[in-house]
This record gives sequence, structure tokens and C-alpha cells, in this order.
Amino acid sequence: MTTREIEQIIDEIDINGQPPAKEPERQYYYMAKCRQQVEKESEKLGRTLTASVNTFGCQMNARDSEKIVGILEIIGYKIIEEEDADFVIYNTCTVRENANLKVYGHLGYLKKVKKKKPHMRIALCGCMMQEDVVIEKLQKSYNFVNLIFGTHNIFKFAELLYTCMISDRMVLDIWKDTNQIVEDLPSERKYTFKAGVNIMFGCNNFCSYCIVPYVRGRERSRNPKDIIKEIEALVADGVVEVMLLGQNVNSYGKNLENPISFAELLQEIEKIEGLKRIRFMTPHPKDLSMELIEVMKNSKKICNHLHLPVQAGSSRLLKIMNRKYTKEQYLELVDKIKESIPGISLTTDIMLGFPGETEEDFEETLDVVRKVRYDSAYTFIYSKRTGTPAAQMENQIPENVVKERFNRLLKEVQAISAELTKEDEGTVQEVLVEGINEHDAELLTGRLSNNLLVHFRGEKNLVGELAMVRLTECKGFYYMGELI
Ligand code: 5AD
Ligand code: SF4
Repeated sequence: MTTREIEQIIDEIDINGQPPAKEPERQYYYMAKCRQQVEKESEKLGRTLTASVNTFGCQMNARDSEKIVGILEIIGYKIIEEEDADFVIYNTCTVRENANLKVYGHLGYLKKVKKKKPHMRIALCGCMMQEDVVIEKLQKSYNFVNLIFGTHNIFKFAELLYTCMISDRMVLDIWKDTNQIVEDLPSERKYTFKAGVNIMFGCNNFCSYCIVPYVRGRERSRNPKDIIKEIEALVADGVVEVMLLGQNVNSYGKNLENPISFAELLQEIEKIEGLKRIRFMTPHPKDLSMELIEVMKNSKKICNHLHLPVQAGSSRLLKIMNRKYTKEQYLELVDKIKESIPGISLTTDIMLGFPGETEEDFEETLDVVRKVRYDSAYTFIYSKRTGTPAAQMENQIPENVVKERFNRLLKEVQAISAELTKEDEGTVQEVLVEGINEHDAELLTGRLSNNLLVHFRGEKNLVGELAMVRLTECKGFYYMGELI
């Protein structure tokens, strides 16, 4: 459903009646209630209430924030960038401790702002809120926060916000898990021409270092019909590229009433007329099927890029990480992919400093990097997450050892990446023009199918269009180019 259609429904709601029990109608009712409240408060202030949504973490969270912004806009808030808005929301991440610490830092700042601006509301949501220790700390030391909710009940945002608006106490609602997926809620989009689309939620893999399965719950797939309907509506609205989002897209559809594989879903999406590019993340190497490789090979729309997190090269460590593949199996898979789809761009996630990682283990990781030759790699230092099996493991690696390995790994990754990028210098490629260059307004920035960026001279009206560009000069991780 489009925002306009939802708006029309909300216009006709009798807010003095009882709230419906069914979703999403119940949320529409609360959106109408919130809208009246925002109007009242804006009148009192003599200006429109402002809201700012600050997102930490992954694309999943970015997508959730778009849903929050969609609701805020419908109920009449003016969205601003600044952090001292009348309503400030932090959509948090907890995959590494750093993300966690940042939120507390921001809260410290907001406490001071709120002292001067008592009508200000502060809300926290996202992965970090699913941790008991965090909630205890917030209740004890951050009682100026007005609203806290988690990842499973984000669809109830309008209802929770209304409760918060009429209450002077902290509103807290955290669910342990859910099997509910609520469709047809409003959503804002950051870009007019590309969009993220959730295909599934949660993760069942329980890699031993990872907190995601604990904070995002069990795997739930959206109905393929709902996904297709959403993408068709996006395309009708000008979107040419979609990024299908899931913690482990390869297990998409397994638990649906009528099971369907991820490869089959991709084939259905491919048929959508007007859609030009399809991306997805993240596939788990343990169950990447030959069927998927075949579909990618034959597709005209799936981008020439696969992000395939390896995490580590040592089979011994991979076992303790509960990744369910060995170094050999991973390399074999990569060979099959490269054989079927020559020239595919491969990227990965690598984690260093997992408990017990030896110099030999690390060498195995370097060996994988050299053998696969990734176009780029996200490298992370292991961060201990309370509640995960790895947090209990002995032999946590000293920081200086990890840092030293990190630097060696980075050098290797960057050297290979630069070599691969150089290979495409001089070629002409199709790019999606994503915007005007941040540093030079004369230049446009486009994204290649393999996910790299190219900057080139061109007219503003090309933004959102596909264009052919010659990659005239390789600059390491991006190109300078000229429009053909
Ligand atoms: N410490 C460091 N990195 C982590 N990741 C997941 N959990 C942790 C952790 N505890 C990394 C993995 C994953 C990426 C999204 O984040 O590499 O692929
Ligand atoms: Fe975490 Fe592993 Fe699930 Fe990825 S697949 S979210 S690393 S548990």
C-alpha cells in the first residue's frame, strides 16, 4: 500500500472509537491518535514538532529506521537531521561493543539538552534493547528516556508512541521473540531510485560469537506475494534497484506454509518489468546452493557481486565459531562460483582475534584471502558479547596481538583489492547514478554492478538513471570516469 493510500485510511478513522484488535488497522488507529496529539503540541509550541532518527548498524536497521520515519511523517512530525529535535530516536546496534558505547555517549549528551528542553522526548529501539543488561542499566541510570522498544515489536511503534505521549513515565515494551510479520505499514525511502526490501527476519545459525540470533529472534520469511507486491509498487514509484535483506537469505522460504527457495524467489523478482538491478545480502556459505549460482549466472538483473562472509580461514576456528563449513569447503564453493560466473566480484567479512586464534589460524585466513582474491573485505576485531558461547571461552586474544594481525590482514586485502580494481580500468560499464559528488558538485557518483563507485562529469538530471561510463582512471577503491 502506498503512503497516500494509508493516509486516506487514517483520515477516515474515528479516533473516539475503540482501537481495532487486528493489525495493521490497529496501528492506523494509533497513527490517527498520534497525529491529533502532534497537532495539539505543535499549536502550543507555535511551530511544527521536529523529530530525528539516528541509525546505528547494518542495512536491516537502516530499513527499520525508514519504517519509523514513515510513521513519524504520517503523524505530522517534521524530520530533521539535528540531534536536538523535539523527538529523538536512536535505532541501536549491538553486534560489537563499540556500537553499544556510542549510544551511551549520545545519551549523555541528550541528558543535558533535555534539561533545557523538558518537553523533549527520547526513544530507544533496535538490537541493543533486546539485551537484559542494557535495559537494567537504562532503567537505573537513564530514566530520562521516554520510550524503549525492541526489534520484534517495531510494527507497534505508533501505539507505543501514543502511550508515551499520554504518560509521564518511561514506556518500556520488549518482546523476547515473535512469529508475527505485519504488512502494509507506511515507510519512508532514503533514495527515490533504490530501496532495501526485507525478505526475512532473524537468524537461526548461532555462530558462537554472534549476538544477532538473540536480539533478532528466529528466522521468519515474508510471503513471496507480499515481497513481489512491495517491489512492484516500488518500481511503479521509480525504483530501479532493490537490495533484498535478510540475515541469511539462503534459508529464505524454508519455513513458509508453501516453501520456496531463495533462488526461486529471485527468479520471480527478475520477472518484474521495469526493475533493472537486484542485489541481496547476506548469504551464508554453508547453504549457498548450486541452484542459486545457476540463477545468478542466467540472470540479467542480479548484480555481478556476491558478499560471502568467511569470518576465518582456519577449519579449526570455523568449527568453534559454529560456521558449519571448513576452509576447503569454502574454497571449493568459491571455485564453483568463479567458474560459473567469471568476473564476479566477491567480498567478505573477516573476524580477527576470536578466542584461541593462533598465528597458524591467522595464516590460514591470509591464505584464504590470497586464494579467493576478494574485491574487498570488511575486517572486524572480535568483540565479546555477553550471552554468546564465545564470551565464556578461555584464551581471549590480547589487543596488541590482534591489532598487529589486523594491520597485516588489511595490507593484504588492500593490495589485492587495488590490483583487481585496476584490471577494469579503461572498460565501459553500466552504472546507476546515485547522486551528486559530495566534494565536487560538478561530478556525479555512480555505482557499478560490482558495487564500486565511479565519479564523472554529468548533468544532475541523470541521478536515478542507468548510464554508460568509461572507467578512465582507477583510484584504488573507486574510479574517475567519463560519460559515454
Ligand atoms: N565481534 C566482531 N565482529 C562480529 N560480527 C558479528 N559478531 C561479531 C562480534 N562479536 C561481524 C561478522 C559478521 C558481521 C556483520 O559482523 O563478521 O559477518
Ligand atoms: Fe550472526 Fe552467524 Fe546469524 Fe550472521 S549467520 S547473523 S554471523 S549468527
